[in-house]
This record gives sequence, structure tokens and C-alpha cells, in this order.
Amino acid sequence: MKHLQNPTFPKGFLWGASSAAWQVEGGVDEGGRTPAIIDLNSKTKKPFADNSITADHYHHYKEDVALMKECGFTSYRFSLSWSRIIPHADRKVNPKGIEFYNNLINELVAAGITPIVTLYHYDMPVWVDEKFGGWRNRAIIDEFDFYVRTCLNAFGDRVKYWLSINEQNMQIVYGKWLGVSKGCTDWDKEKWQINHIMNLCHAKAVIACHELVEGGKIGPVPGYVPIYPKSCRPEDQIAAMNAEELTQKVWDDLYYFGEYNTFIKNYWKENAIDPKIEPGDMELIKSAKIDFFAINCYRSDVGMAPDPTFLQEIGLNKYGRKGEFIYTNIPGEYALDRNPYVETTDWDWHIDGVCMRYTMRYMWDHYHLPMIITEAGFGAHEDLDENGEIHDDYRIDYLRDYIYNLGLAIQDGVEVIGFNPWSFTDLLSTGNGMAKRYGLVFVNTTDDDVRDLKRYKKDSFYWYSKLIKSNGQEWGKDMSEWREFSKVSQIASDIKDAK
Ligand code: BG6
Repeated sequence: MKHLQNPTFPKGFLWGASSAAWQVEGGVDEGGRTPAIIDLNSKTKKPFADNSITADHYHHYKEDVALMKECGFTSYRFSLSWSRIIPHADRKVNPKGIEFYNNLINELVAAGITPIVTLYHYDMPVWVDEKFGGWRNRAIIDEFDFYVRTCLNAFGDRVKYWLSINEQNMQIVYGKWLGVSKGCTDWDKEKWQINHIMNLCHAKAVIACHELVEGGKIGPVPGYVPIYPKSCRPEDQIAAMNAEELTQKVWDDLYYFGEYNTFIKNYWKENAIDPKIEPGDMELIKSAKIDFFAINCYRSDVGMAPDPTFLQEIGLNKYGRKGEFIYTNIPGEYALDRNPYVETTDWDWHIDGVCMRYTMRYMWDHYHLPMIITEAGFGAHEDLDENGEIHDDYRIDYLRDYIYNLGLAIQDGVEVIGFNPWSFTDLLSTGNGMAKRYGLVFVNTTDDDVRDLKRYKKDSFYWYSKLIKSNGQEWGKDMSEWREFSKVSQIASDIKDAK
């Protein structure tokens, strides 16, 4: 059998990891920060979530950056907290909030790490929600623009990679889970209005970045979950396409082409949905030209023709027990299902490195824009063993497979500029608190006991460090053994080679 060479990564590839302010910082009442809706939303999911301390990065950021440097990072993706920067409705900029991010950015730059900054990652300030009713009111567009411009002006001299809104698609698809639906009476219809307002906010951010940041580049952050058809039954293929549209393509087309695609316009018509699009809106959206796509890609799903009547809401496996995830079913469009060909995490997320290659190929074929991976990762139950160590070989296998497939996508001709998995240190999961850990570095704290918050390097830290310091050459296992593991990629590569 003909083997592929080790994939190679471009010179200057941005190797790092990723986080979000509300999930990693803690210090929620410090330095003038006021609450965000997600703080409150998290607490309703108790006992598994409370972000008031989490990894306490607010107080440990120097130590964390030193660890990133030791690991060999050349990038770090993190988000800014709106309510730390503008804590109240009076638009007064909080000097302490600016100071915290200045310190973090300066620390990164001094360590030779390129900052990649998300402007908005789920944490709507309570004051914005109270004043405008969250994303439901168009008045938020100006307020968001003011916040974004404040950030670009404050940090744009050192930050050149900007991300607008994290996983806008998932905020609409999982709106109830992430608290975006707060205040809505008919979410299935209202979500498209909210989405339109988010599109306008995204567009404003793109325009502002190009206006204010010399050499600045900006892109959106879709969460990408490829949907494979469950079978070669033609109806399953169409269902999988419907699912791709309704969970991601509608957003990606909008960001790239500046238009709502025909699929969604028909869907709205069929479902009597009529988001209010005002004169000038589409011109604004079209004028906002993105520079790249930042992609979050953890897993794939399987789509099949749905039962015509049965509606199953998206179910989340809160407590990390296999087999408890409830797969969505949208009558008339699609149903999702378990993929028997791949393993799952304790939260029933499919573990599928090939989905990384699929995503890269799909996005490249449709949009031909460079991409940065801003999330991928393995959530697991973990605690220190008697030697104070974490042997997370499952995470190493996961990362190896995803990075290997990313390398194959690069060989396929896709332009990728960086890989920043979720997460550097352990941090709060969106719905499972500290019980679901993703970090390369263990943080000694649990949901019930704050402990001492000390950092411990997991095995994956050492493995990842070797790989990235060699720019993707040191895989830590014989490649032939590894190729055996990545059978599907291998078969695909062999077919390609044989042509
Ligand atoms: C991504 C989000 O979709 O998934 C992160 O951008 C989130 O904020 C990550 O933490 C993992 O999801 P979860 O629910 O396991 O925390």
C-alpha cells in the first residue's frame, strides 16, 4: 500500500490554543466588570457550572502565558469581555478592563505569541440586555459598534487578527441552551430576526476593523459540524444537505456573499417567517468583506430523512454519560443520528479526525478563503492521579488525528494559517462546568471545591509541544502505526494517489 508522506505545515503556521473570557477568566466582580447574561444562565445549570472563579486566568495570566511560551505557542486565541470594557450603559470605558487586556496582550507579544482576539463570545452584558432586550432590538447595533471600535482603538496597534462573533450559527441553533432566546415568545421565528441583527453587528465589526486597524484582518467564527448522510438513500442525502444549510451554510454564505441564500429564503416563506430587513441592511452586509474564516470543528454528525411529525428538541448530555444525547429532528428537514463508524466522548460527541479534512475541503471549495482553526478539542472527566499527573492519551490521539487530517487538507490544496484547539488550561464548559475538561494544562479546581488552582501540565501538553516546536514533524508515534489508525484518510489518500 502506498503511504502518504507526513503532512507538512506552512512556515509561520500559527500553533496555539483557544479560550473565551467568561469561561477562563473568573474575577467576575473584579476590576469593574459587571455581570453578563451567561454568568446568570450558567448558574441555572448548577451544580455543574459557575464562572465566578473557573481557571482564575484573571489572576494567573502571567503564569499561563509563561506556560504557553514553554509549550512553544506562536498564537493564542482569546476573547474580550464586553462588560469588563464597558461595564455600564453610560458608555464609559473602564480603564481597569483596558489595562487587564493590555497586560495580557503585552505579555503575549513579549513571549513571541500572536494574539487572535474574539470580540464577542456569548457574554452579553446584563446592562445591554436590560437596555435593549439583548439581540432583539436593532438599537444594539450602534452599541456593539461602539464597543468594537473601543477595542480596535485600544488594542489594534498590537492585535492584527480579529474575530467578530463566536459561533453565531450555534447561538441561533442552540439559542435556548446559550441563553440567546431570553425574552423571546416564539423562538423559532424570532431567532431569524435576532440572527439578522447579529449579521449587521458582524458587518459593522468587519468594516470598523478595516477602517481602524492598520494591517488588520477579520473573520467570523462559524462552528462547523459536517453532516454525513446516514445512508446512500437519496432522501438521506437531501436531509444531510438541509441540516448543513440550517446549521451552518446559511451563515457562511451570508458572510461570504453578503446575501441570504435561496435555501433560507424559501425556508422562511414556507414557515411564514419574515425577519425585518430594512433598506440599506443588505448593502451594509455586502460591503463587509471578510479576510478569512475562523473555524471551530470538534465533530461530525449524521443526517437522515426525518419522521414527518415527531419533533425532538436538541438534547444535551449534561452529565457526561455515554448514550444520553438526544439527536435533533426538524420535521420536514432532517433528523440527526449516531454514527456507528466512529467513537464518541463521554458527552456523545463523535470523535472523527476526518471531519477536519472534510470541513476544510468543503469551506475551501465554497469560498476559497484562508482559514484558521480556532477550536477543536476533547472534553473529558479528569483529576490528578496519586503522582499529580494526568495521562490523557485519548486527547493526544484526538489531537493527532485532527492535526493529521488538517495536514492532509493542506496537501489537498486548502490554505490554512493556524491551529488553536480548545483549550489551553482547563476552563468552564458551556453547560458542564469544570466537570468537562479540555485543557492541555490541568487546573486544580472542581465545581464543588476551589482547591488551590495550581497548573499541572498534562501528557498532551508535552506531546503538543514537541509537535508544534517541530512545525508538525514530531508525531510521537511511528507514522506507519499512525496511518493504520487513520484508515479512512489513508484509503482516501490512496485513491487520490492512484489517479
Ligand atoms: C464551542 C464554544 O462551541 O464549544 C466554546 O465556542 C465551548 O465556548 C466549546 O466551550 C465546547 O463546548 P462545551 O459545551 O463542551 O463547553
